[in-house]
Amino acid sequence: MREVKIETTLEVYEDISELPKAIQKLMGSAIDARNNAYAPYSKFNVGAAILLDNGEVVIGNNQENACFPSGLCAERTAIYYAGARFPNANILKLAITASSQNQVTDKPIPPCGACRQSIAEYEIKQDQPIEIYFMGAKGKVVKSSSLANLLPLLFESSVL
Ligand code: THU
Repeated sequence: MREVKIETTLEVYEDISELPKAIQKLMGSAIDARNNAYAPYSKFNVGAAILLDNGEVVIGNNQENACFPSGLCAERTAIYYAGARFPNANILKLAITASSQNQVTDKPIPPCGACRQSIAEYEIKQDQPIEIYFMGAKGKVVKSSSLANLLPLLFESSVL
C-alpha cells in the first residue's frame, strides 16, 4: 500500500474589485445572467459567463422545472450553449456567481459535481485548461486555473 496525496491550489481574491478588469467584466456578465435565472423553486439564482477564444461571451443561468430533476444548472446551460453555438471555439474562462433570494450569499459558490464533470468534457476535448472564477453575491472570489484542479480523478472517455 502507498498513500497518494492530491493537492489543489486556488487563488482567493477579497472581492471582485481585486480581479483583473477583463475578469470583472466577465463576472459582470455572469451577474446579469444570474439576475435573469429562472429559480422559482429553490430561490437560488446562479449565473455563468464563458469567454471563448473567438472573443464571444456566452452566458447561462439555472432553469428550474416543476419536475425538479428536469431543471438545469447555470454552468451546464452556458457550456452546452457554447458547444451548440460555437462548436469549434475553445473555452478560455468561466465566471460563476450565485445568490439566494432568502439570505445574503457572501461566500464563493463552487460548481456542483455534475457541472464539473460536464465542464471537464470540454477541457479534455480542447486540451487547454479552462480558468474558473466563482463567487456568491458579494465577497471573496475563488480562481481555479483549470477544471481538473476542481475534479481530481475525473471520469474520461479514454476508458470507454
Ligand atoms: N445550481 C446551479 O445552477 N449550479 C450549481 O453548480 C449548483 C446549483 C442551481 C440548480 C438549482 O436551480 C439551484 O441552483 C439550487 O440547487
